[in-house]
Amino acid sequence: MEKVGYGIIGCGAIAPVHARSLAEIPEGKLVAVSDVVKDNAERLAQEFGAIPYTDYREMLKRDDIQAVSLCVPSGLRVEIAEACAAAGKHILAEKPLEVTVERIDRMIRAADEAGVYLGCVFQSRFADGAAKLREAIDTGRFGKLVLGDAYIKWYRTQEYYQSGAWRGTRKLDGGGALMNQGIHQVDLLLWYMGQPRTVHAQTALVGHEGLEVEDLACVTLTFENGAMGVIEASTAIWPGHDARIEVHGTEGSVILEAGEIKFWKFKNEFPEDETIRQSIGKEAALGSGAGDPLSNLKHEGHRRQIQDFIRAILEKRPPRVQGKEARLAVEVIEAAYRSAATGKTVELTK
Ligand SMILES: NC(=O)c1ccc[n+]([C@@H]2O[C@H](COP(=O)([O-])OP(=O)(O)OC[C@H]3O[C@@H](n4cnc5c(N)ncnc54)[C@H](O)[C@@H]3O)[C@@H](O)[C@H]2O)c1
Repeated sequence: MEKVGYGIIGCGAIAPVHARSLAEIPEGKLVAVSDVVKDNAERLAQEFGAIPYTDYREMLKRDDIQAVSLCVPSGLRVEIAEACAAAGKHILAEKPLEVTVERIDRMIRAADEAGVYLGCVFQSRFADGAAKLREAIDTGRFGKLVLGDAYIKWYRTQEYYQSGAWRGTRKLDGGGALMNQGIHQVDLLLWYMGQPRTVHAQTALVGHEGLEVEDLACVTLTFENGAMGVIEASTAIWPGHDARIEVHGTEGSVILEAGEIKFWKFKNEFPEDETIRQSIGKEAALGSGAGDPLSNLKHEGHRRQIQDFIRAILEKRPPRVQGKEARLAVEVIEAAYRSAATGKTVELTK
């Protein structure tokens, strides 16, 4: 079987989730890993049988690597992505793709010019319930979309923010409850509701000390299709609740919690609707992250997405979550920060 040789840059908390996923993907093989902290690279390499590097540029010289996961802090990806593209490697970047649209556009340009794929990890899209909801939208089952909401009422300790110098900083985390934790649900909401027209937001720091970013945000949105919506995001709510997405239309309503269907009802009932309702609580859960960043994160979502990325390379077709599409979540969050800073509603253009 043809295998895609794979590298990981950044060997911190999320990197083992990529490595574990790769170990279960027959079409992929983890070849090497790289981290500026030697111990981090060596630990991951030893656990997963890979070659450690402290300089990713050396790792990128290898001919047996075709694709790379970028697991470095969010605001450090653009230069690394440009080097990967220049070396002809396909790039799967963790979320958010980068911390500003300007930096994301540099990544997209570099990938386009080099003819490599640029994907962004939004593993929530690969949850069974999340995908079923998208199908229902594509087949027009909601009638006219009326409201789309994302609620991320999570908890992060002060120690979490102190566990890495980059966490909670504007430059490297890019933002707080919206940009780091909430972005999965923001992406899902936009995947379902489409292009927003306006964004209005308020943000605050209420439950932590010394952060440059928000741990509380309330955002209202209007969408091009005439619908409205809200995003509520926090990391200051104890004990933390599963993130929730609600999509409501004139002919149906669906509610997801941690990517799983909790409510599913349409005016025009299909035979499979009852089966879907019967399966509530029995889907393969991908974990929630509500109270703790990783202890509850299953790698199944990453496995599905990394497998799609690898198959995209082998089949010479774009991956399911392309950088160009992942850009919108950061554009909307940047607009929310602008609105919160000025008190004004921000208009977005397509
Ligand atoms: N998809 C998800 O659910 C999910 C979950 C957690 C984190 N993440 C994302 O993953 C990224 C990393 O988060 P983390 O929690 O693993 O952070 P972390 O601080 O635990 O790990 C980052 C690692 O990158 C290394 N690093 C820094 N600069 C480097 C460079 N120039 N070259 C190579 N290595 C470098 C650090 O030494 C560290 O080992 C963030 O962007 C975060 O948003 C995504």
